[in-house]
Amino acid sequence: MITEIRASAPGKIILSGEHFVVHGSYSVAAAINKRVYVSVREINGKDQIVSNDISSNLDSDDGSFPAVKSVTRNILSIARNRKHSPFEISISSEIPSGSGLGSSAAVSVACSAALSEFLGIPLNKEEISNLAFKGESTVHGNPSGLDIQACQSGGLIVFKKSFETRSIHLKDPVRLLVVFSGRKRSTSKLIAKVADRRTEYPNQFQRLVDSASSGSFEMVDALKSRDLSKIGSLFTSLQVQLSWIGVSTPQLDDLIEFLYKKQEVLGAKLTGAGGGGSIIAAIKSGSEDSVLKYVSSQYPYSFVTEIPQEGLRWEKATG
Ligand code: PMV
Repeated sequence: MITEIRASAPGKIILSGEHFVVHGSYSVAAAINKRVYVSVREINGKDQIVSNDISSNLDSDDGSFPAVKSVTRNILSIARNRKHSPFEISISSEIPSGSGLGSSAAVSVACSAALSEFLGIPLNKEEISNLAFKGESTVHGNPSGLDIQACQSGGLIVFKKSFETRSIHLKDPVRLLVVFSGRKRSTSKLIAKVADRRTEYPNQFQRLVDSASSGSFEMVDALKSRDLSKIGSLFTSLQVQLSWIGVSTPQLDDLIEFLYKKQEVLGAKLTGAGGGGSIIAAIKSGSEDSVLKYVSSQYPYSFVTEIPQEGLRWEKATG
């Protein structure tokens, strides 16, 4: 009898098109080398969810684990005729929540896979992403689905709402610096703020949606040819557009300024919803570790990631 199932999914960075993707643009995202691990095991007692020192019964509406509870309830309703032992879903994450690095998408994806397998109703990729998307929507309001696709498939993807996601193969891996500003924020509030901006300036906004699409294709070309200067300069121009829609902050601008003191930094932008969260930067090849050391002195959650990284995967059970 199966007593424990364990799966993991990576977080993600958005290289181009965040926010504009909600309004129909193409976007580019990649999985990172930080993961969320979810294991499901039999216990005595009630179904429950635990993470670090927080635990909550599945039937409690205490506001904790909204994405995981949504995923779990939806899977249980699919499996309604099957008897199951009480279970515990345990989450451990290498990604701070609210950092803009896809922790809620990764947990939703890994939980959909692990729990459905545990209950004996393994789901296919599309079913996993649909359930994970519903879970994410409880946290983010009106997400595009980009985060879920990036965390599930891994690698580098081009994404547009209601179109098939395309995986991009890179001949040579690309290394980027990721820095969490330390400030958490709510994606749903930022999505709503950007929608207001669109209502206020519909024509200008539409031009930026179109420009995000062309920027995304240029980004793919730059990544394919591993042209770090071009990746950096695209980051710089995308950051200007993200500032204009009101999702950068003085603190993120200071962080980017701090990075630009190093001449090896070729360009930087916020990644994800903004309002805090994280930035990504292109660094001259060979200087990543020295720039990482410099930035870590002020921003301890910083790391270098390489594209591509593996997406959803099964892990060995621990216990
Ligand atoms: O929640 P985050 O920071 O991982 O980023 C979400 C990306 C947005 O484009 C702002 C929203 C979306 O669903 O695409």
